[in-house]
Amino acid sequence: TTDPLVVFTPSGKRGRFARGTPVLTAARQLGVDLDSVCGGRGICSKCQITPSYGEFSKHGVTVRDGALSDWNKVEARYDEKRGLKPGRRLGCQAQILNDVVIDVPPESQVHRQVVRKAASARTILMDPATRLYYIEVAEPDMHEPTGDLERVGRALAEQWQIPRITTDLPTLSKLQPILRKGGWTITVALHKTHATDTPRLVAAWPGLHEGGIYGLAIDLGSTTVAAHLTDLDTGAVVASSGIMNPQIRFGEDLMSRVSYVMMNPGGDAEMTRAVREAIDALAVEIAKEAGIDPSLILETVFVCNPVMHHLLLGIDPVELGQAPFALATSDAMNLTAKELDLTSLPPSGGVYVLPCIAGHVGADAAAVALSEQPHTSEDLVLIVDVGTNAEILLGNTSRVLACSSPTGPAFEGAQISSGQRAAPGAIEAIRIDPETKEPRFRIIGSDLWSDEEGFDLVAADSGITGICGSGIIEAVAELRLAGLMDPSGLMGSADQTGTARMIPEGRTHSYVIHDGTADGGPLITVTQGDIRAIQLAKSALYAGARLLMDEMGVEKVDRVVLAGAFGAHISPKHAMVLGMIPDVPLDKVTSAGNAAGTGARIALCNLGARADIEGRVRRITKVETAIEPRFQEHFVAANAIPHKTAPFPELMQ
Ligand code: FES
Repeated sequence: TTDPLVVFTPSGKRGRFARGTPVLTAARQLGVDLDSVCGGRGICSKCQITPSYGEFSKHGVTVRDGALSDWNKVEARYDEKRGLKPGRRLGCQAQILNDVVIDVPPESQVHRQVVRKAASARTILMDPATRLYYIEVAEPDMHEPTGDLERVGRALAEQWQIPRITTDLPTLSKLQPILRKGGWTITVALHKTHATDTPRLVAAWPGLHEGGIYGLAIDLGSTTVAAHLTDLDTGAVVASSGIMNPQIRFGEDLMSRVSYVMMNPGGDAEMTRAVREAIDALAVEIAKEAGIDPSLILETVFVCNPVMHHLLLGIDPVELGQAPFALATSDAMNLTAKELDLTSLPPSGGVYVLPCIAGHVGADAAAVALSEQPHTSEDLVLIVDVGTNAEILLGNTSRVLACSSPTGPAFEGAQISSGQRAAPGAIEAIRIDPETKEPRFRIIGSDLWSDEEGFDLVAADSGITGICGSGIIEAVAELRLAGLMDPSGLMGSADQTGTARMIPEGRTHSYVIHDGTADGGPLITVTQGDIRAIQLAKSALYAGARLLMDEMGVEKVDRVVLAGAFGAHISPKHAMVLGMIPDVPLDKVTSAGNAAGTGARIALCNLGARADIEGRVRRITKVETAIEPRFQEHFVAANAIPHKTAPFPELMQ
């Protein structure tokens, strides 16, 4: 008789196996992606499968040496204790009897796909750098002089075919009591920096560890620090949190922080300490929010601009403040939490910092490239990551260029008179009626516009606190569209514009969005100074994009992707009215949300993606805005709204 045929879905992999072969064994031999932490001992439940056709050893019956025997006790015990979902079997226990089709559900795949964001179908492939392995370790013996670590190594070699491991002192110092507590069974976390590396033992738990392990993806910006806590098994983001970068007190933007270091010996160490302490506190807070112990955070990935990169690593950033802007290293960094003094995280936990592209184009731009993959685009795509420093990428399948542009913090609501971070209470969208010159607006946390029913801002408690980045961009564009401001950015008086909302302020005029007298709230205006700050920021952004277009030898791009923490909230129309981005059809402007943060999540969840971006950044052409004379020309011409000379035909339609 021929052996039964086994077909796995969704992979389609198939083969013939002797009756009685456990499904997990067949899966391994065929290279089917079926997870296991306990190595087939029937305790981790990672190997669950769904029989979709054919006959298996049933509940109550199993096959040994071709003969039916008693119901598999291990699986029965598991089912009794924890309960298996109806129709599910443990792949390591269910045995093949006849021809079968076996479905491996997504949660049982090691390399499962995780949806990156709700709005898009794009996914992250799970292949984390740190993984768990359950092992049974031989007890020490008077006659055999091996250490506990050596016996752990031998167990990994025998039970998981992992021939060699390394470890470090913090982990080793905890190993002996864990082994004894677990009765010589333990779960170890092994970390790899590259697929072919010798894994490093970074944590251990007695018995089977069921609490999961987690990773932090951190987007370390000049103004804000955003973190996503991710379950390294499922890839799910379990908590997200953000704080202001405490380095702001040393200087609002990057160059002022570099000059702080130049003027104050030891200033770099001060800023390094400040940011590391803040990240440490953020890790504790986010773990608390998710209800997990920070000791389970075994991976941290950072994306940041070059100055933040150096200050995080404790490297004096002074070389980044002067030509030729040499980085200490542009390579990716593999470190441990202990090396960065992140004391609430396990000391041996892996820290990965994405590679930098150039002296002004950092790991954040690399993360955007990883997330948005411009090198796979047939169209010429311009990607702008809007922040205190804008990362700009232009490219397609043939070539990718990158630069960064010093937009300043205005787009994040800083240096704006009523500006604030995007948080509840901030005005995030605004429209000004071209006839009446009256504003309508929406505040974060509400879906309603200010003059709509049920959202009566004259009522005492409107909750308005200020205006955030996307709000101020729309406000300036709307002032232009409503004819309250000329192309040079100058606002008219109440007489000139015919609205009492224009109030004098020194020798200039301000537009009143919200007069707080009725509700006791703040007076929120757009001042001439606010408009100047936005003009500077948008000119820098546009000039950077133009410089890349010059380098590419093109006058137009096919599409524009707006990224950045608030990129998702910028209205393409208003960005174009302002002249932040070059003219393209409005339906060719899309939003990618926080692409740098997404890139950090991808690197956190997938070891191969790290190698991929490390290779990719070497092939990206860097354009240095700071020393390029044409940058200044483009910058000056872009000061007008939308632009002094460049046509915006799409806008006219
Ligand atoms: Fe762990 Fe099957 S492999 S329960």
